[in-house]
Formats: sequence, C-alpha cells, structure tokens
Amino acid sequence: MSNPSPSSKKVILITGCSSGIGFATADLLANAGHTVYATARRTESVAKLDAWSKALSGRAIADRLDVTEPASIEGVVARIKDEQGHIDCVVNNAGYGQAGPIEEVSLDAWRRQFETNLFGVAAVTQKVLPMMRSQRSGRVVNVSSVVAHLSLPMMGPYCASKHALDAMSLALRVELAPFKVKVIMIEPGPIETEFRPNVDHHLEAKGDDNSPYKRLGDAMDSYWNRSFGKTAAKPVAVARAIQKAVESKRPKTRYRITAPAKFVPHLVSHLPDRLLDRIIHWQLKLK
Ligand SMILES: NC(=O)c1ccc[n+]([C@@H]2O[C@H](COP(=O)([O-])OP(=O)(O)OC[C@H]3O[C@@H](n4cnc5c(N)ncnc54)[C@H](OP(=O)(O)O)[C@@H]3O)[C@@H](O)[C@H]2O)c1
Repeated sequence: MSNPSPSSKKVILITGCSSGIGFATADLLANAGHTVYATARRTESVAKLDAWSKALSGRAIADRLDVTEPASIEGVVARIKDEQGHIDCVVNNAGYGQAGPIEEVSLDAWRRQFETNLFGVAAVTQKVLPMMRSQRSGRVVNVSSVVAHLSLPMMGPYCASKHALDAMSLALRVELAPFKVKVIMIEPGPIETEFRPNVDHHLEAKGDDNSPYKRLGDAMDSYWNRSFGKTAAKPVAVARAIQKAVESKRPKTRYRITAPAKFVPHLVSHLPDRLLDRIIHWQLKLK
C-alpha cells in the first residue's frame, strides 16, 4: 500500500461502486490513502460498501447515488462540500450496456441508456464543477470504452452512448482548461465484471425467435463467448489506470486498457469503412 503525503491525498467521488471497475477503483484508491466517496444506487449495495468501508479508518465513505436521480447527486455533493470543503476528482464510472438491433430497441430503452451513460455523467459533472472551478483544480475522469471508437452490431445504443461520452469529454477538456480542471478518458476493452450479465438483451427480453435479427444476435453472442475471455482483463487493471489519472502530475488525456483498446482506435481510423465491415462479418462468422 502506498500512502500519499497529506498534500497529495485526494478527495474522490466515484459512481457505480457496487461491483466491477467502480468497486476495484474505490478499494485501490482508499487503500492508497485517498478519501473516497464510494457510491451505489441500490440501498443493499450501499450497505455492502458500508461494511467494506469499516476497515478503512474513514478513508472510504459509502453513500447512495443514482446518476439518473438529481436529488441523490445533490445530496452526495453537498455532503462532500460540508465534510471536506473541496473535491479533487470525480470518477464517472456508472454505466450499463443496452443490446439489440437499432430497429427493435424501444425508444424508452434508448433513452434509459443515454440517461445513465451520458446524461448521468453530465448531471454529476455539472454538480462538482462549481467547486472545482473555484478551487482552480480538479479532475473529471470519465469511464468510456473502446466502443467509443468502433460501433458493434447489436450493441448500437451502448456504442452510441460511449461515442457521445467521448464527444462530450473532448468539449469539456477545452472548456475547463482555463480553470485548471483536467478531463481524462478511461477506455477499457473487455473487462471481467458484472457488465456482461447486466447487459439489457433486447432479443432475450422479447422472448420470441421471430426477429429478423435473430441470426445476427446469435452470431454476436457466440462471438462474445468465444473471444471475451481471451483478451479480458481484471477490473483492477482499469483501477490502476484510474489511479494514474488521479495521481499523476501530468495525466494522459486517455488511458487505454487491454490490447484491443490499444489497437482498435488506430485500425478504425486507418481502414476504409467497407473493409472494417468485412472484418466484423468475418469475426462474427457471417457469410
Ligand atoms: N466490463 C467491460 O468490459 C467494460 C468495457 C469498457 C467500458 N466499461 C464501462 O465501465 C463502467 C463500469 O462497468 P463495469 O464493467 O464495472 O460493470 P458492472 O460491474 O456492471 O458495474 C456497473 C456499475 O454501474 C452501476 N450503475 C448502473 N446504472 C446506474 C445508475 N443509474 N446510477 C448509479 N449507478 C449505476 C451499477 O449498479 P447496479 O449494481 O445497481 O446495477 C454498477 O455499480 C461502465 O461505464 C461500462 O460502460 C466496461
């Protein structure tokens, strides 16, 4: 465990800490001596975080925050202001995947996806920025994805939300530079978390086999089952990158975790669209 000096100890708010990357990050940063507000949306998750925080002598504080509920965001940010007087970093990690063909995913499901993965990030960021701007310091760390650079079939809503998050983060980076607030994107490839079990599978939810997209859905499922484990990393690998984003004097603008996250963006920007489509067809074993 590395304990930072008092001046380098940070006050950090993290969303979506019930599992996966959020919990691994909260655990790593609290054990590194930072003060971490580890938040989750379900009361039972907050109770678990509370039990975990007991061993951390006040360095971890569990609280309830649903990124789609403005009152819960305001409550946690007000608490941080009250208890700490400042905030050094927000890690916008909460998110989930909406799967399904563009034609069939209901607009309500589309909206839910953007409410969490994009508007949730905007809502939390808007609440912490007044403090960060007046301090003239702070870091906004957005957990994006390799799919901010590539759109996969049957994952359109999720990929679109991460593309949008990338665009928002780029604008924010320039807007906040005069206030010495840095914006950092975290771009994981496949990571072994609850993400896959939590994916909202439109075709499964629909419960019938008559969709014209059934074959593509099955091809995508078997692709994930074949390939995910081969390249997936543990959530702590992402947590370590977030630790660099928090602690480095001069953090990178993007941290890419896993081999696919490193090579895919280059591939996408250099290959012609039709060749990319063919590669995706070939990977999915579609004729
Ligand atoms: N795993 C991957 O392969 C991968 C790859 C690239 C990027 N990512 C991104 O990494 C981030 C973390 O995902 P993960 O892989 O760690 O998956 P995970 O284990 O499913 O964790 C997602 C977290 O987000 C929370 N969440 C969902 N909706 C929320 C809301 N409205 N308000 C507050 N929290 C909410 C979940 O809470 P509940 O437990 O209550 O649902 C959970 O704590 C996501 O943004 C995801 O898009 C993941």
